[in-house]
Amino acid sequence: MISDINQKNRNNILWQNFYINKIKREKLNNHRSALLWFTGLSGSGKSTIANALEKRLYFMNIHTYILDGDNIRSGLCSDLSFVDKDRKENIRRIGEISKLMVDAGLIVLSTFISPHKLEREKIRYMLENNKFIEIFVDTPFNICKKRDVKGLYKKVFNKKIKNFTGVDSIYESPINPEIILNGEQDVLTSVNKIILLLRSMKII
Ligand code: ADX
Repeated sequence: MISDINQKNRNNILWQNFYINKIKREKLNNHRSALLWFTGLSGSGKSTIANALEKRLYFMNIHTYILDGDNIRSGLCSDLSFVDKDRKENIRRIGEISKLMVDAGLIVLSTFISPHKLEREKIRYMLENNKFIEIFVDTPFNICKKRDVKGLYKKVFNKKIKNFTGVDSIYESPINPEIILNGEQDVLTSVNKIILLLRSMKII
């Protein structure tokens, strides 16, 4: 029934193109747009690195926006849990929003565990070539557990949280990400590595 309705809707929907498009917005901004997709375990350092990177880009007059797991789950995705099906829906929604923001001319920094390789790849293929930059924040589970910035690992081991990534819920590491960051190195080194890539791709 629901899929019938979706199919009917799809048949009656035609994409509308507008005069002011991504290319014009990129010219106005004086930089290209892109999606920097940070993936990694909870506590790996995704948000910390994105925060430092965004600060650096801001002072270079670059227009950015951060979409972050905990923030998005407080609003748009507050109806979703952490079972695999909901995590996939979470990432699908973020992918669509990220795509709109890239169209708006921004450099979008999306920081989500995004544990499923296929769901991340779907977003890559939703965007044009060279617009999706996957950044794997590679921090070993034991380090994330030791950091326990939000006190969640403690709760997991006290059996107060179920379906926790790396414990009883899977994380599939990227196979060929554009960037791998050693999550134990200092934040500045990680930021510099990303800036270098953005320059070499002529995004900034
Ligand atoms: S994702 O798997 O769907 O991509 P997302 O990045 O949105 O996850 O949210 C992860 C954040 O939610 C974590 O950083 C953590 O603060 C919090 N969280 C709460 N419960 C869980 C859980 N079961 N597994 C992982 N993270 C959780």
